[in-house]
Amino acid sequence: MRKYVAEPFKIKMVEPLKMTTRAEREEKLIAANYNLFALDSDDVYIDFLTDSGTGAMSDTQWAGIVSGDESYAGARGYKKVMTAVKDIFNYEYAQPVHQGRAAEQVLFPSLLKKGQCCISNMHFDTTRGHVTLLGGTPIDLVVAEAKDTLTFMPFKGNMDIDRLNAKIAEVGVENVGMIVMTITNNSAGGQPVSMSNIKATSEVAKKHGIPMVIDAARYAENAYFIKTREEGYADVEIIDIVREMFSYADAFTMSAKKDAIVNMGGLIGVKNDEELFVKVKGLTIPYEGFVTYGGLAGRDLEALSIGLYEGIDADFLKYRIGQIEYLGDKLRDAGVPLQYPTGGHAVFLDAKELLPHIPYHQFPGQALALELYLEAGIRSCDIGSYMLDVDPVTREQKEAEMEFTRLAIPRRVYTQAHFDVVVEALKTIKENADKVKGYEITWQPPILRHFTAKLKPIK
Ligand code: F0G
Repeated sequence: MRKYVAEPFKIKMVEPLKMTTRAEREEKLIAANYNLFALDSDDVYIDFLTDSGTGAMSDTQWAGIVSGDESYAGARGYKKVMTAVKDIFNYEYAQPVHQGRAAEQVLFPSLLKKGQCCISNMHFDTTRGHVTLLGGTPIDLVVAEAKDTLTFMPFKGNMDIDRLNAKIAEVGVENVGMIVMTITNNSAGGQPVSMSNIKATSEVAKKHGIPMVIDAARYAENAYFIKTREEGYADVEIIDIVREMFSYADAFTMSAKKDAIVNMGGLIGVKNDEELFVKVKGLTIPYEGFVTYGGLAGRDLEALSIGLYEGIDADFLKYRIGQIEYLGDKLRDAGVPLQYPTGGHAVFLDAKELLPHIPYHQFPGQALALELYLEAGIRSCDIGSYMLDVDPVTREQKEAEMEFTRLAIPRRVYTQAHFDVVVEALKTIKENADKVKGYEITWQPPILRHFTAKLKPIK
């Protein structure tokens, strides 16, 4: 049995949680039209909807909040963020923005032309969205192992290098605008990418003169996996692993709401291309505000400059990854199917395997997420056919390759006992799995439906 890695911190401030009864939760779900995004967070006991912006800041970060400099131009926090980026990533230029998707909006127009494609190990939804908005085509080339949820593979997030070479040859170099390496690979289950794969991808990019961008949302967790799973890195400091990972790319976009442990914030990094950085600054002003605040308050910049270091602390990462492994292993011991090994920020339950009687068009991932809320007030989300949506042309429901229910774990927020509650709830659901019903959609918007669609259980 895996031991829980004890917290490398103690608790100074608490946020009470409301307890609800099953009967109350049944009513809340009817009122929310069986959409977990429509619940009041006060009616949620354990919130695993996302690990983004939901972390607990440290006392040092809160001290930074109080001393934040709110000057419009040249604020102290801006300089601290610049110094941190130079130190941690060894990039010459950085631009703060308000969150990850803003970084994509500001950077991508300088790299991707209409009609070009963007190749990634896997695009996150907003990355895919920004590529599409620019008239580009997103292409995912994750390794085949990502789809095998049962077998241990150390780096299931990797880019398939053979398919990358073949794809570039097929579409022509001039039609590839950029390569985006997402670390860790969120959509494949928070799975890491190895250093050798980042390097190999970068060699392909360099050979063809294609810019390579890192989607750095969970870069620190990725560095920890390299340290613990890749030969030759056991004795290398996390910060040096980070420097090496980023040395292979030309630029990065970052949602700082994950590994930089802030409630709001993002970053663009440019390694050394001054011309590109001038373009980035040019688009920051209309989209995000003046360059020295980039959509953030001065206090947010302070918290970000501190969080960047806290996120790469080796003891913190050991606890963080250990927490996810603890939950994953306890669930596996109980026979609950999931993407194995567990990734960095979440446990991805295999709803297709747990609820084989629910077909994809009745949304097994969503059905399991709803059942978890009913059972114990736990909020999670579907990463499967419900999220995938209908075909934009035929309006037919598409079938996802994997039907996941994602338990995304906020940083420094929940304790071992909370995880045990989750395990107990899933054991009960597993015992009665054949009674769980599928769902149908009664209303949906034209795009990104999973946030606002209305559903009802199938009788
Ligand atoms: N890239 C990745 C890999 C992400 O996971 C996210 C957000 C973004 C970019 C966009 O960043 O939200 O700050 O604009 N992921 C969150 C999630 C929302 O729940 O996985 P953002």
